[in-house]
Amino acid sequence: MKRLCILIGGTGSNMCAIVKAIQKGHLDMQCVGVISHRASAKGIEKAQALNVPVEVIDHHAYPTRGAFEQALAQRLEALNPDWIALAGFMRILSPEFIKRFENKILNIHPSLLPKYKGLNTHQRVLDAKDDIHGATVHLVTEELDDGPILGQMQMPVLEDDTPQSLQTRLHDIEHILYVEVLKSLAFEKPDQISA
Ligand code: GRF
Repeated sequence: MKRLCILIGGTGSNMCAIVKAIQKGHLDMQCVGVISHRASAKGIEKAQALNVPVEVIDHHAYPTRGAFEQALAQRLEALNPDWIALAGFMRILSPEFIKRFENKILNIHPSLLPKYKGLNTHQRVLDAKDDIHGATVHLVTEELDDGPILGQMQMPVLEDDTPQSLQTRLHDIEHILYVEVLKSLAFEKPDQISA
């Protein structure tokens, strides 16, 4: 069974959706660890409540990005995941780190990539008067929010939507999408995916 690590830094709702899918038998993977880069992340308690191994590697505790990434990489290598799912992990990873886990790192981004890479995607959708918004799961490569797209899900933008209402509705979409993409990877070997 494929080994999955989930990296979080915030509310952890995507992590919860993935773990619950595993626990209900809908996703044939083993969650071998949840790692938060922030000690105050709300997702930590949620992971504990779900009885999955969770630990903190707080980026504030390291003098440089390199030192933080070294600690994270060593821990990940010990956990030996087939897949590493970023879910609200708010640190930009260096090319060296990405190379070390090449073709294994997935990210969920709150837009229909290649539209709206980076931050504030909901506001940018409203500013552009788009009719459609959505989420993307992609492989992580050196370019920010630019790796091969593994899955997308759309939703309509409503007339009275605000950034907050879009974010709330999109979260529900993300939870379905992330689990569906992971299902498609449950029997894939990372080296069968070409970036
Ligand atoms: C999600 O909106 C995801 O698209 C973005 O960060 C958010 C994480 O939310 N990358 P959560 O921590 O999973 O609730």
